[in-house]
Amino acid sequence: MEKQKASSTRLLGLWLLIVALAPLLASCACSEPGPTDAAHFKVVVIGKSVHPYWSNVETGVQAAAKDLGLRADQAVFFVPPTEDVTKQIETMETYIAQGVTGIAVAPSDPSALEPVMRKAADAGIIVTTLDTPPVDDSVSLVYIGTDNYAAGKVAGEKMVQLLPAGGTVGIGRGSDTALNALQRTDGFLDAVAGTGIETLEPFNDKEDAAQALELANSVLSANPDLTGAFGVYAYNGPAWATAIKEANRVDRTKLVCFDATTDIINGIKEGVIDATVAQREFDMGYKSVYLIYLISTQGQAAAFDKMGVVNGIIDTGVDVITQANLKEYQIQLNTKGIPHKWSTQEWEPAQDEIDQWN
Ligand code: BGC
Repeated sequence: MEKQKASSTRLLGLWLLIVALAPLLASCACSEPGPTDAAHFKVVVIGKSVHPYWSNVETGVQAAAKDLGLRADQAVFFVPPTEDVTKQIETMETYIAQGVTGIAVAPSDPSALEPVMRKAADAGIIVTTLDTPPVDDSVSLVYIGTDNYAAGKVAGEKMVQLLPAGGTVGIGRGSDTALNALQRTDGFLDAVAGTGIETLEPFNDKEDAAQALELANSVLSANPDLTGAFGVYAYNGPAWATAIKEANRVDRTKLVCFDATTDIINGIKEGVIDATVAQREFDMGYKSVYLIYLISTQGQAAAFDKMGVVNGIIDTGVDVITQANLKEYQIQLNTKGIPHKWSTQEWEPAQDEIDQWN
């Protein structure tokens, strides 16, 4: 009898232990996605300057947040007014202190940003980069953006097509430290090397639109024989376009640039910009949020697999746009549901613009 009582007391004890441990055991499926994880999730995307290009990135961030059912305050977007490494570092510090889930940053100076990125990673924050690659061996888990060297090369090849007899080309860019600016310039220089095209030393406007215009004006007036201009950042194409138009040199100066913001597309429609290498910045914002969400809720391996991360990179790709394919490009954006503020209605390409590519 005593023996039976003792064993039922033991059974009750065991049962109580199981009941007490149950919530703990359940929460130990801890890396699995769960409503609690989702409620505390917060991602911050840090860009480089106030510009329509970065507004498109922000639209992508918001679209991903919507698709993932996140509240607006769970996907924050920040950019300094112009290129500002100190401001990027300060912003990282603020969000590290808040203990956010993930930070995706476009490092204006990869070496200067790496220590604070490391601090974030050491604090358990998921760190990725977008638009602008980090240093080699960075703590950034993934770079989401353009293959900048390859894209710069494509821009250079377009210039070679436009200037078969060679000439002198000016280069404007927004940074001398950001890797995307440096790699694009390298790709461009490699593509034009040995073709009879000479290039001038690139000028740096620090992502300041007024500076970009001033510098484009001064390069044009100092070089009356300038036959081509290359705009490395989204600021530069429109700055060159305005300078070229004001100097009445549209027929004499070929212009190849990057990105497809409204002012750049207008330049293509007018015929002052001959070609642009359009990045897919909406996707950069969208995929940054989505990837960090998947890593935090499903683990890195599953997230990388679902998002197609290859060697730490999601290559978002580019589209090369001229008057000849502008309409198709718009159809492509519409099909993908990517918002844009320009239209090709009541516009037709000019035959001479198309002919220059044949
Ligand atoms: C670059 C960004 C830059 C933007 C605005 C884009 O081409 O990828 O890094 O911030 O232009 O200048």
